[in-house]
Amino acid sequence: MKRIGLLTSGGDAPGMNAAIRAAVRTAVHYGMEVYGVMRGYAGLIDDELVPMDAGSVSNIASRGGTILRTARCLELLEKEGQDKAAATLRKYGIEGLVVIGGDGSFMGAKMLTEQYGVSTIGIPGTIDNDLEYTDYTLGFDTAVNTCIDAVDKLRDTMESHERVAVVEVMGRHCGDIALYTGLATGADTVVLPEAPYDIGEIAARIEKTRAAGKHCNIIIVAEGVMSGEAFAERIRSLVKYDVRATNIGHIQRGGMPTMADRVLGARLGNRAVTLLHGGAANRVVGIRKNEIVDFDIIEAVSMKKRFDSKLYETLQTISM
Ligand code: F6P
Repeated sequence: MKRIGLLTSGGDAPGMNAAIRAAVRTAVHYGMEVYGVMRGYAGLIDDELVPMDAGSVSNIASRGGTILRTARCLELLEKEGQDKAAATLRKYGIEGLVVIGGDGSFMGAKMLTEQYGVSTIGIPGTIDNDLEYTDYTLGFDTAVNTCIDAVDKLRDTMESHERVAVVEVMGRHCGDIALYTGLATGADTVVLPEAPYDIGEIAARIEKTRAAGKHCNIIIVAEGVMSGEAFAERIRSLVKYDVRATNIGHIQRGGMPTMADRVLGARLGNRAVTLLHGGAANRVVGIRKNEIVDFDIIEAVSMKKRFDSKLYETLQTISM
């Protein structure tokens, strides 16, 4: 394979730049040419490609976001958009494509392989950690650390005012950001899409902790359950304390990637291009038990994400 393309798609995630850097540098190592596709599949459809070399990815591993920009592209769902995307790849003589994004982005990669014969490799770039085939997705660690920082700060002011904080975090349908943030910050309660909850019990727990001498309460709510504001409204009607809702929002998608995300990005980017170089197609890379692994794309996206109930039990046992 002489020439490959590289794109980021869907919600950005810290560590994407580290993966881009590793993919480009690995391609240079194998003597392959690389084109960066701007704005994800939208740039593929609109022919927005830029040649990349080792120098184009200098000093980017420490930066959040994605230098290639990203988009959620509905046009790729239509035949016309798909034809245009494939025509752009043909025009540039690109035989292999690395797609960094979540499960929706992987479906675009699969379509290009199956319908147009383009070799594609997916890298799981999303803060949500919602893919079963990999222990961690790129960006999850940084996003959780950002949430931890926010909750630690909130705790100071909540304690001064003796309030109840309801903190909404992202994750789409997955509660991992909420679970890990709750465990790391010592939140009283974590409300997740994967586990049932009883609002009356949560209110009773607040009373119990106050009676035991606590001056504030932190409740983490995953966006997949409901908004933080809606949850705060429900709690407000059940307790006598002042309740405030905070939505960490898109702040959790930005910022300098952590060591974990930089190293993961480097390892995944390297493996993705090494697979393309070896003639693989229609695969995704990930990490399991600290080993870089790869799976067939369909096998990977059809695995149902398992809920870490042991971690949840641990949280419940030690939150008092
Ligand atoms: O998939 C990443 C994610 O940040 C989700 O956690 C969230 O639901 C969604 O993207 C937000 O998307 P947007 O940036 O389009 O508002």
